[in-house]
Amino acid sequence: MSETQMNDSTFSRLFIIMILAMTILTITIMVLASLASSGVNAKLDERYEQESTQSIAQRIAPVGTFSAETVAAPVAVAAVPLTGEEVYVSCGACHDSGTLGAPIVSAAGAADWNTRLAQGLDTLYNHAINGINNMPAKGGNASLSDDEIKAAVDYMLERAK
Ligand code: HEC
Repeated sequence: MSETQMNDSTFSRLFIIMILAMTILTITIMVLASLASSGVNAKLDERYEQESTQSIAQRIAPVGTFSAETVAAPVAVAAVPLTGEEVYVSCGACHDSGTLGAPIVSAAGAADWNTRLAQGLDTLYNHAINGINNMPAKGGNASLSDDEIKAAVDYMLERAK
């Protein structure tokens, strides 16, 4: 009987020691785990904050963005036509020297130009814009406007006096 009691109290003591040991072990593991994860958690928090700030900015951004350059560029191109002198740079290939029988743009061609001018200024404009014989329409540069061609003809008549 006394042997059984001894055994019981030995068991009780062992049992208590084991419970204590397991409790200490559990607490130790919890402390270690929270120490190990605290750095990772801080990084995750930081990233989450960044991402949510970014996505808010994206969601409230305006749908189309306008910059001054995209609006102003085409207007600037259309607003500045070439002067007669600037256009003549491409006419001079024939009209400087009389290539292909072109009337020469200098005093030497004055008589030729006077004869042509007798047809009327509008006819000269028309032939310069639409071409005649070896004279190509717009001197071969279709990107020039009618007004730019007319300015070039005025410039040629001025120089051929
Ligand atoms: C490839 C050569 C060539 C180029 C480039 C050229 N011309 Fe001529 N041009 C001629 C020839 C050739 C004639 C004469 C045509 C004829 O009367 O048979 C002529 C004639 C003219 C005449 C007189 C038309 C008439 O009715 O008598 C005008 C104005 C004229 N050119 C303007 C221009 C202008 C402006 C340019 C540039 C934008 C230009 N030409 C570029 C060859 C050229």
